[in-house]
Amino acid sequence: MIQDDPFRAYDEAFEAWRAKQPGSKFSEFSLRRIINGLRKGRVHDTLGSNLSGEESWAESGRSMFETILAMHPLPANARVCDYGCGSLRVTSHFIRRQDRLCVFALDAVTDFMKIGKELLGEHVLQEKLPRFGVISARLENAAAFRPDLVYATSVARHVHPEEKPDFIDAMRRIAGKPGSVAIFDAYVADKETRFARSGWAWPLNFYLDAMAPLKLIGSKELGSGVTGWDVHRTLLAFQR
Ligand SMILES: C[S@@+](CC[C@H](N)C(=O)[O-])C[C@H]1O[C@@H](n2cnc3c(N)ncnc32)[C@H](O)[C@@H]1O
Repeated sequence: MIQDDPFRAYDEAFEAWRAKQPGSKFSEFSLRRIINGLRKGRVHDTLGSNLSGEESWAESGRSMFETILAMHPLPANARVCDYGCGSLRVTSHFIRRQDRLCVFALDAVTDFMKIGKELLGEHVLQEKLPRFGVISARLENAAAFRPDLVYATSVARHVHPEEKPDFIDAMRRIAGKPGSVAIFDAYVADKETRFARSGWAWPLNFYLDAMAPLKLIGSKELGSGVTGWDVHRTLLAFQR
């Protein structure tokens, strides 16, 4: 049988789940599944301590950290916010590099950051005093932190179309200070494209229009497309 919609079973499971909890979000459904998977010892590309691929947790976020810094060099006393920090794969490098109290990490849930905090260790946490929070509760605190840079890595692609305005609004709000920069990797395609259970690509113009009045100041093809789909992972940097 030819399956016309490869994600139908997943979407039906989501709708059945949402019917029992009206108003729930796709991210709540998909993240709950990942959390349950990690508890059972499953590997994940970016979340938890047991990552798929060759690299250890400590190394896996390094190249993204270096790419962001190369795109937008920052002094050690600059304030940085990680939106969708997960298990601190990338955040941990910023926490070590930036001065004390200069990093604010937000995520949709606390489960992943708890794993990252344990991996990072009490010594570094006490020395650098990064702040942590759940997006629904601490978004305004992160905006009031007035970061010089807010970044989101491997987040935009997972944001369901219904939650897209919240993601864009959060990036713009946190990058609220004049001169502040927002960087995220987006999957870009000629038209809106669903390419995985939780994978969406959008035309570049969507991001440019949505992020206004922030202006695009840089972009970099990350070269890791998705086999079978005409989508391109691109790091976008916007400045207010
Ligand atoms: C694939 S993980 C990437 C984690 C981390 N940034 C990294 O690069 O290792 C995506 C993260 O974004 C967070 N997130 C925040 N808002 C989200 C949304 N609307 N949809 C999906 N994930 C979201 C998830 O909780 C998760 O920790």
